[in-house]
Amino acid sequence: MSLFRKKDLSAMLAQAEDGGKGLKRTLGAGNLVALGVGAIIGAGLFVRTAAAASEAAGPAVTLSFIVAAIGCAFAGLCYAEFAAMIPISGSAYAYSYVTMGEMVAWIIGWALIMEYALGAATVSIAWSEYLNSLFGGRIPYEWSHSPFESITDAAGVLHHGIMNAPALIILLMLTLLLIKGTQESAIVNAIIVFIKVAIVIIFIFIGWRFIDPANHTPYMIPADAPGHEAFRKHGWGGVLGGAAIVFFAFIGFDAVSTAAQEAKNPKRDMPIGIIGSLIVCTILYVLFSYVLTGVANWKEFSLAGKEASVAYAIEHHMPGFLWLATAVKIGILAGFSSVILVMLMGQSRVFYSMANDGLLPKVFSDLHPKYRTPYKSNWILFVFVGAFAAFVPGSVAGDLTSFGTLFAFILVSGGIWLLRRSDPITPRPFKTPLVPLVPILGIIVCGAMISQLDPQTLLVAFGWMALGLVVYFIYGRKHSNLNK
Ligand code: ALA
Repeated sequence: MSLFRKKDLSAMLAQAEDGGKGLKRTLGAGNLVALGVGAIIGAGLFVRTAAAASEAAGPAVTLSFIVAAIGCAFAGLCYAEFAAMIPISGSAYAYSYVTMGEMVAWIIGWALIMEYALGAATVSIAWSEYLNSLFGGRIPYEWSHSPFESITDAAGVLHHGIMNAPALIILLMLTLLLIKGTQESAIVNAIIVFIKVAIVIIFIFIGWRFIDPANHTPYMIPADAPGHEAFRKHGWGGVLGGAAIVFFAFIGFDAVSTAAQEAKNPKRDMPIGIIGSLIVCTILYVLFSYVLTGVANWKEFSLAGKEASVAYAIEHHMPGFLWLATAVKIGILAGFSSVILVMLMGQSRVFYSMANDGLLPKVFSDLHPKYRTPYKSNWILFVFVGAFAAFVPGSVAGDLTSFGTLFAFILVSGGIWLLRRSDPITPRPFKTPLVPLVPILGIIVCGAMISQLDPQTLLVAFGWMALGLVVYFIYGRKHSNLNK
């Protein structure tokens, strides 16, 4: 049995239809763009913009967003070709099964767990922090932090975290919603997306009047700024360093492709969903970061404005708009919820596909008799992600999420190039332009961003991938449907 045995493309397309017994096709182009925006705008915009400005790019964080967006666009164009051509649940995992064979597909499925499951855990922990901030810090420390965290309060009493209960609660609520149905989840997602996009636009409009041009001069951090001597911390180098930081803000556009099997007209709507959500978010990000670094000076974001930076900028530089600071916090909570929702959905759809192929136990593909959602998979995922969110500090998972995503981007870009050569005949409703240039640029840009992750993260990531291979040889390979 070859490690590179492939799934047949036509068999795969037939499986997606499954005589109406599979996932329901309920999503239109609008739903898909909303799904993308739902997964994209979150902690990356509201937390990392200020970090990128103060650490590396200064006001030129706007350019960092453009650089990161260009990197994502290369991968996004490749995703769009695949998603329109192979409109089946499972995204990058499914594409690599037809193009690069079973073992690569397994590896990518395993990397996607890092992206979606750990991504959901990370953002649920951030959700818990913002909820506490909205309640004025009234949630007891013990019940909103992991056992690995502790703090000494003003009275000198030491508090240890027990578990992060709010993170667990938001995960439970969203899991219940996902089990109820894709359409229901899509409606709730659309409402949330409306709220968070409205908050972003209101901030841009009101904040514009408070921009102080002095904050934008010079536009890049000068080489002689104290603490910014390193190449990646000033000038154009800082713009690149900032791009690696804000890359997190774009994670999620690929989640649109996990829902391909639930799209009404995937051939037309998948490319619109993927590229459309990427364009909408890039425009909002550039405007938002332009206003944020105009209202407050980038240097403030390493001092008092380091936490809850958007609320800080409003409270300190936009007199008369305190209500907006509260609204922003509510918008951020809503924003985080939809990121978690789409990540959880994406992960359960990847599990669904892997179980359908026999690589994971069947329990991951069992559909609810009434709602036709993979409810058992949703519950297992809740336990796994919930354990992570409740008992592990948030900082651990963020970079692993980026690794899993970039790794998937590289394999998807390579896959497009390979499939053009091995199977030029199958119709492609959407074609990635300039192959192989675009896939090659995608591989280079994403590879460069992986190289910027810290060595500790890379070690854990490769450990996780090695564990995955063990599971594959013990279970997946023996139970694969391709054995039949
Ligand atoms: N792009 C998502 C966020 O920024 C993951 O929260």
